[in-house]
Amino acid sequence: MSTVGTEGFATLDGARSKSASTVSPKANSYIVYDELLRQRKAEASRSIIVQVQKENLCDDVLLYCSQFGEINKIFHYTSHIIEHSQKENKDLVFIEFKDEKHFEAALTASTHANHQYIIPACTPMLWFRHTKSSSIKKKLTSNKQIEIKKDSCKVLSKMEIKNKLAKVDSISEQILTLYDFTKLNDAGTRLRFFTAYQIERCFKSLFPNLVVVPFGSSVNTFGKQGCDLDLSLILDQNNTEKISSSLVYQTKYFSGQNKTHVKRLMETIADSMSTFLPGVSNVKKILEARVPIIKFDHLLCGVECDLSTTNMTAYYMSELLYIFGEMDWRVRPLVFTIRKWAESIGLTSKIPGPWISNFMLTMMVLFFLQQQHVLPSINSLKLSASQNDVRVADVHVDCTFLRDITKLPKTKNTDSLEKLLLDFFSYYSNFDFSAKAISLNMGKPVLKSENHPLYICNPLEVNLNVSRIVSIDSLHRLVLAFRDATWVLETKKERNHESKGLLSLFSKESIQKNWKESKKTAR
Ligand code: UTP
Ligand code: MG
Repeated sequence: MSTVGTEGFATLDGARSKSASTVSPKANSYIVYDELLRQRKAEASRSIIVQVQKENLCDDVLLYCSQFGEINKIFHYTSHIIEHSQKENKDLVFIEFKDEKHFEAALTASTHANHQYIIPACTPMLWFRHTKSSSIKKKLTSNKQIEIKKDSCKVLSKMEIKNKLAKVDSISEQILTLYDFTKLNDAGTRLRFFTAYQIERCFKSLFPNLVVVPFGSSVNTFGKQGCDLDLSLILDQNNTEKISSSLVYQTKYFSGQNKTHVKRLMETIADSMSTFLPGVSNVKKILEARVPIIKFDHLLCGVECDLSTTNMTAYYMSELLYIFGEMDWRVRPLVFTIRKWAESIGLTSKIPGPWISNFMLTMMVLFFLQQQHVLPSINSLKLSASQNDVRVADVHVDCTFLRDITKLPKTKNTDSLEKLLLDFFSYYSNFDFSAKAISLNMGKPVLKSENHPLYICNPLEVNLNVSRIVSIDSLHRLVLAFRDATWVLETKKERNHESKGLLSLFSKESIQKNWKESKKTAR
């Protein structure tokens, strides 16, 4: 890979350079987004999950499932999701077979139990019961070496993160440590693709061209462990008419532009998932919103999901974010730190409202990195696009931009993460939000076209403002927080053990103190 600024780095897990400015992870080879999604989906299509009564039965599951064929991946995880105000803890094992025929063999050998009390769905979501055959010690062949990683989807508590950060010296290393220990890992990613695939599988017999595509932080590489899963259900991916065909399918009338039609479709999807799909629970239909969604928990995969229909613009937005994340090793750790900072001091919330969201903050970090010449403008990605990069989403949205970033020149910026963090806060402390909009397309501030307090041009629909919902009050809080963070980083060079480096940024008390003081001076 020849992405910007990735040469000569130590590994994330392994040894790191002592100099903060050279602390950086090793470059991985770049995979084009569509290919990444294709690989993840293929893994999901030959995977099963098996619920066990106790964690110590994982080895028995491995032994039993080995009879169906070679296993590529196996891990244990626990799902703790609240159902009917009760916390449920489930122990589960995720297994990816090497071959689809081994996966099929496992499903063919599976059974229903208690026929009279169940909807007899056949899905790769199973539970393990001890029978004579499961205790037969079958000779392990190629699965001999496989080790089962326990509690693979663990989300670290605030205290655990604090302890990890307290152990490293420089802010640059803390930023990388935070990223390392909070980013969505392979197990979490697999469970998210598995969830998407199960919904697709559920409707596939009626709609062979239906796809359910994950997007948002679960796939754009800015997601943290335990993040929500955004899904887009597309009824007909190959919607091109075969002009030469004389046999035409009989169908029901439906228009994607007709709100009532879309609502009825989503209601049916929600009800079918709720009735037929094991694991799907707490289904809520939010159909009056601008983008109607179905919210649900997948109790067996341990994920909370938002499903919309035909939201291809959001899909390409995720691809764009993925590409930016891949361009430079500092992008993701910096975004994670700023998201964590915003969460710690209460600037962001899981509940949507007139405040800044993670997505908007990510846009602000990317824009700042464009100012530092770490990242290119979107217009330059559009100019470098080839015929293969042409995409149009949701009928009219042009999503054409360069996909193969190995063609891009390298950045000359070698700033440390610590410097970039401080410069980020200081840049936005002095940004003219009253007159200027943030345009990632231009790669520089532009004049606002409408008077919203915070204006971040939507990179794919440039006339829209992704932050139009943010109130003037929230913007004031944000700017004060930027100033406070600048002040904390500039002045607190001598750190005591308790509020060391980044930890002093993540403290609500310090920000509240400064807000009070700044309000006094404003009066
Ligand atoms: P989310 O708000 O769920 O953000 O939007 P996220 O990136 O997944 O972050 P968290 O972890 O949930 O907080 C999901 C995706 O929808 C698209 C983006 O691709 C985003 O990643 N999106 C969102 C837009 O295209 N425009 C918007 O205004 C908001
Ligand atoms: Mg999301």
